[in-house]
This record gives sequence, C-alpha cells and structure tokens, in this order.
Amino acid sequence: MTQMARTRADGPPTAGAHTTTGPIASPAQGAGGPHTPHTPCAEVRPGEALDPRMPARAHTRGDVILDLQHISLSFGGVKALTDISFDVCEHEIRAIIGPNGAGKSSMLNVINGVYHPQQGRIVFRGEERRQMHPTAAARQGIARTFQNIALFKGMTVLDNIMTGRNTLFRSGIFAHALWWGPARAEEMRHRRKVEEVIDFLEIQAIRKTPVGRLPYGLQKRVELARALAAEPSMLLLDEPMAGMNVEEKQDMCRFILDVNQQFGTTIVLIEHDMGVVMDISDRVVVLDYGKKIGDGTPEEVKANPDVIRAYLGASH
Ligand SMILES: Nc1ncnc2c1ncn2[C@@H]1O[C@H](COP(=O)(O)OP(=O)(O)O)[C@@H](O)[C@H]1O
Ligand SMILES: [Mg+2]
Repeated sequence: MTQMARTRADGPPTAGAHTTTGPIASPAQGAGGPHTPHTPCAEVRPGEALDPRMPARAHTRGDVILDLQHISLSFGGVKALTDISFDVCEHEIRAIIGPNGAGKSSMLNVINGVYHPQQGRIVFRGEERRQMHPTAAARQGIARTFQNIALFKGMTVLDNIMTGRNTLFRSGIFAHALWWGPARAEEMRHRRKVEEVIDFLEIQAIRKTPVGRLPYGLQKRVELARALAAEPSMLLLDEPMAGMNVEEKQDMCRFILDVNQQFGTTIVLIEHDMGVVMDISDRVVVLDYGKKIGDGTPEEVKANPDVIRAYLGASH
C-alpha cells in the first residue's frame, strides 16, 4: 500500500500525503519503550499527524469510552493476553497491530464479550465490569466484523445485512410472522435503514445476489454493511482488508474513514498493512506474544525500537 493516503469524506486520496511503505519505518531516537504509557486522548487531536492540507474531521476525538485495564486471558496453558491495558476514545480510529498469534483477535473478543478474561477490568461508557457480555455489548452499540468472513453464503446481500438489525427488533416474532400492525411499521423502518447502508457502501447492484457468489473483496464489504446496519457507536474490524488487492483496499479504507467521519463511529481496527494503519489511525496499540509492546500515535509507534524488533523478526 504505497499510494494509500488518508482520504477525507469528500475528497480523493491526497497525493503525497502521509504514507508508509515497508512494514515499519526506520528507528528514531526518543522512542517510547514497552512501559511507555499510552498517549492520552487529549494530547493528539484527529488529523494532527496528517497532511496539514487535509480538511479537519467532522467529529473531534472525545473522551475515553472504553478503558481496558490489566486484561489477562489464557486458554489452558496458552496465554493469549498478559496484563494488557489501553483505552479507546470516542470518535477515534484505534488500531491494534502485531504479528500473527499476538492476541489481536482475542482482544476484540474480550471487548465484545465473546471471551471472558481471567483478570482485569473493563470500563465501558463509565460502567465498570469484569467482563462484557455479547448481547449487552451489541445492545450498547458495539458491532464487529470477523477475520474469517461470517456471513450466510446462501442468502442474498440484502438478507445478510438485515441480520445486522436483529438486536434492534422490538416486536415479537409472532407479530413479525403475521406482518401485523406495529411489526409491519418496524420492519419497514429496518428495511429503510438497510437500504441506506447499501447506498452508503455502494453495493446497490449486488443487493439481490447470494453472498457466496461474490468475490472476496465484496463479501468483506457486505460484512461491513451488516455491522453498520446495527447503527453501532463502536465498530470492531478484524482485518477488514486482508486478502484484498490494492484497489479493494483503497475502497475499504475510504469507507472506514467515511463511517468514522460521517457518523462519528469509534473504530477499533486490526490490520496488517502498515501503510493503511499509519494513514488512517489516530492511535495504535502494538501486541506481541500477548503483551503490549507499544502504544501511541502512528509516528511514536513507528519509532518504537521494540515494535521495530517485533516486526523485523516476524513475517506477515
Ligand atoms: N478459542 C481459542 N482457544 C484456544 N486458543 C486460542 C483461542 N483463541 C485464540 N487462541 C490462542 O491465543 C493466541 C492469540 O490468538 P489470536 O488472538 O487469534 O491472535 P492474532 O489475532 O493476533 O493472530 C494464539 O496462540 C491462539 O492460538
Ligand atoms: Mg487474528
């Protein structure tokens, strides 16, 4: 991803904007070590590290909405996460990077309550708890996409996206089956919202196509559409661009930025392409073997010797 530039809601990628080529840039002095505290929300405003020619973001970064404190998670003898702490601010794009097996997907599963850590605390929107629960997380506006596409392959794009609204249904299943009164009005509302998402992600032409017939890049976009249909305030994206060609990645990058800017959606993003991460994220947390080895702005993380070492020693 050499040509990827941070794209604004209404503009094309800016040539010559902040881009990164290799896995990580060369070392620099003054880098933070593994014990460097993360960069507080207030210290970096969105867009600050970016090309000054770019217009400001519609939503400025807000307060901390998710605070993960000393999270440890093991599976039998395997320590997936060890004493991980970091926070996520409202409206920011927060990247999680690290070599394979570092614990990135596990971290997302902790955030949306699929995995329950043995240790640590999670503070979400000011409410402290030992662990999240998947349905509560969904109700509180957390939606996600998966590393391996999780869609109903035989169902159409439209129907798959509709499943994203399941947690928002109010009327009972019988009322829906009878297509009766309030249920009918509610379903119309859901369908309208789904159509908005379809327009937003520019997938009108494939709305009636079974997902299994679509190329991989489009399936990933449908998965994003399904997550967006839930109208999330926080979106967890697990390698949304993995396996895509350059053009597909540019499209996906643009959509992620558009979601963030137009709706103010907070985004936690796992991504391997360092060019993408450096271009679109506000802050980056780096995991390696289940431990946090870096946390800060893209510039800080790029210059962190531990991060450089982890990346030079790992193949992607
Ligand atoms: N459900 C699980 N059962 C057992 N081990 C798991 C499970 N999920 C993840 N792990 C282990 O936790 C570690 C971190 O995995 P993962 O979070 O998928 O890493 P990443 O997403 O960074 O590649 C790996 O050693 C993986 O095998
Ligand atoms: Mg993973």
